[in-house]
Amino acid sequence: MLKKNSVKLIKYYNFINHNLIFNNKAINRYRKENFEISEDKSKNLEALKKSIMIQKNCDLKKQAKNIVFSDGNPKSKIMLIGEAPGANEDQEGVPFVGRAGALLDKMLTSIELDRKKVYISNIVNFRPPENRRPTEKEINRYLPFITKHIEIIEPKILVLLGSTAMNALIGNHTVISKMRGKWIEKKFGNFKTSVIITFHPAFLMRQPAQKKMAWIDLKMIRDKKAYLKI
Ligand code: URA
Repeated sequence: MLKKNSVKLIKYYNFINHNLIFNNKAINRYRKENFEISEDKSKNLEALKKSIMIQKNCDLKKQAKNIVFSDGNPKSKIMLIGEAPGANEDQEGVPFVGRAGALLDKMLTSIELDRKKVYISNIVNFRPPENRRPTEKEINRYLPFITKHIEIIEPKILVLLGSTAMNALIGNHTVISKMRGKWIEKKFGNFKTSVIITFHPAFLMRQPAQKKMAWIDLKMIRDKKAYLKI
């Protein structure tokens, strides 16, 4: 028989969603679905991954356990781009499998999306040591790869998660609080797409009050998806 205090404590933990807050264990979301993309797209993705893997003199690559290339559905018309892999992602070779990933999944679910319906990558494909932000030099090194990645996937909606992704792909001239929640038409190589910037889930875990702004952005993505009949 549980004591009254223990029952209260369990209720409290459920209320504050303690798994999300305290559970550090990686969630294995690696899926082997065959999304049946065209041979061309598949070859292009493989070639891109290979060109990232055979880079010379990249300290990030030297120190990482695994390349973190992408997750989700390469056929999707919705692509999300984060910052860089963390420890869990490095371990599994899959983006957003740690705590930020759990929140990202919740955000996707709130607008009836999931990893089978979107495609996810990062600005850099190897974990920066100590989970630090990638430096400008590192970002510049990886910029051609993520640009190519976007060109191959050809998303109709591109969601940039956080200021690193925003600065890398849109520019350094502005701050995320001013740029989030707006649609921007942007060309990557010859490919033009609609971009929206929103807060990174890791930032939202530190600043939960900003979740209400992220919810506005998520609803914009939901509406755009409906408008574009994706
Ligand atoms: N944060 C990111 O930006 N990317 C990941 O893959 C995980 C955490």
